[in-house]
Amino acid sequence: MREPQPEYILLFGGPAAGKGTQARLLSQALGLPHVSSGDLLREHQSQAASSVMQRGDLLPDDLVAELVFARLQQPDAARGAVLDGFPRNITQALALDRWLKEHGGTIRAAVYLDVPEEEMVRRLIERGEVSGRLDDRPQTAPRRLEVFMREMPPVLDHYAKRGLLRTINGAEPVEDIHRKIKEALTARPVR
Ligand code: AP5
Repeated sequence: MREPQPEYILLFGGPAAGKGTQARLLSQALGLPHVSSGDLLREHQSQAASSVMQRGDLLPDDLVAELVFARLQQPDAARGAVLDGFPRNITQALALDRWLKEHGGTIRAAVYLDVPEEEMVRRLIERGEVSGRLDDRPQTAPRRLEVFMREMPPVLDHYAKRGLLRTINGAEPVEDIHRKIKEALTARPVR
């Protein structure tokens, strides 16, 4: 009998929209690993990468794709994964399409957490006070938002055209968002 194809759930949203929070909950609920491109880059620990991240800019597509695809080939991701923060621009979305074609696997859904800008800024500054993350600073917030607003629309469009996009209000309580994401994953796609 043929093995079932791995399934990937993509989580999109601006800085501090709650991707990591929801990815962790989904990962537990579905028994799939949480793969965060931001965490992979922070673990990568290159001085060059960390200064780009501190500025709020994106790292080179090739570097990010290499780290993410290597992680997706680990044994614990054989059934799929919850992807947080990747793809983040249309080049990365097309690279993911090519990788899936080559390695097998399907995208179950692309979930977009829609959060007002002022709420994202509030959350990231609040988190920066405790996490010490160097990109969670008031002076970096505008650049992170600008990059997100420039790069994300074509990515959302890419998945909307294939009936895979689910938009969820990310300004609600964490548990409500989690429930709505699970409902959206089982709902029939709207084409
Ligand atoms: P990354 O680590 O992906 O950061 P981000 O996208 O800016 O997202 P965050 O981690 O800040 O937030 P989140 O959406 O995960 O929210 P969280 O759940 O933590 O990327 C960092 C950098 O790495 C990028 O700027 C770039 O330089 C580089 N990078 C990453 N991926 C890349 C890629 N693919 N290509 C190129 N470069 C890349 O929640 C945030 C806070 O809000 C927490 O305190 C949380 O407790 C709180 N919170 C969450 N949900 C709620 C809620 N519903 N209500 C109230 N508070 C909430």
